[in-house]
Amino acid sequence: MTLVYLNGEYKPLSEASVNVLDRGFTFGDGVYEVIPVFNRKVFRFDEHMRRLENSLTAIFLENPYSSESWSSIFEKLIASVDDTEQSIYLQITRGVSERDHDISLADTPTIFAMSRPISKKDFSSGISAITHEDIRWQYCDIKAITLLPSVLLRHKAKQSNAKEAILIRDGYVTEGAASNVFICKNNKIITPPKNKHVLPGITRDLLIEILSKQEIACFETAITEKELWVADEIWVTSSTWEIVPVIKLDNKPVGSGKPGALWSSVNKLYQDFKSNYCN
Ligand code: PDD
Repeated sequence: MTLVYLNGEYKPLSEASVNVLDRGFTFGDGVYEVIPVFNRKVFRFDEHMRRLENSLTAIFLENPYSSESWSSIFEKLIASVDDTEQSIYLQITRGVSERDHDISLADTPTIFAMSRPISKKDFSSGISAITHEDIRWQYCDIKAITLLPSVLLRHKAKQSNAKEAILIRDGYVTEGAASNVFICKNNKIITPPKNKHVLPGITRDLLIEILSKQEIACFETAITEKELWVADEIWVTSSTWEIVPVIKLDNKPVGSGKPGALWSSVNKLYQDFKSNYCN
């Protein structure tokens, strides 16, 4: 039976419930992680743990568990799911308090984790994306549960029959609503540098690492909106989507209008890395 973890207990999802005064519910006062599991192995565990630690520090919460404890929680959750390809969702909120902004009123964080079959779609023939002003806040490097802007941006993309919104802040590309962005121009691969306006994506960093092992340069430099428009290829990356080619931007073809040759070879490198890691 599929189990979830809530505050020290394992139980069926239908039996897991949280107090309505939880600050995650009233204030969106919490952080989360999404961690892929391939062949029942947690992918890039240390990297996800590091990002979790950074998110928690940024919101003045302590990590409730050691990496070893997280690992054993994940193992139990993964074992309770039939599929071998899964996605762990974990969320830590500041816990229950009166509805008052003062964070010192809450003393016990709420800790929730579950692993679900990965809802991986086949995007190998490419997706459409829209461009949109980056309407989010100034701390996009924190993986905060407060995702209303991203939800609205994905909805806008959907209204235009697209899957992702590529965000522009002050004339520069930041990232997707729930992904990082890469472009290629004349065989040069570029992704925006990490800063307060970009989530430090684990897939993004891994892709850069894989490319550098192959001595393929990836430039972490700012991308203007204009450069996005004339790119030969655009890719978006995330733990659940992996590396996805964008073939249409605001309804206009990107490059040839088909997944590019560079994407095919880079995607193969990524898939090979994944198979070696998880076998
Ligand atoms: N989101 N940027 C944003 C804003 C994201 O929400 C995500 C992932 C990424 C990619 O990060 P990673 O490679 O570590 O998955 C970039 C997850 C999948 C989500 O919210 O469901």
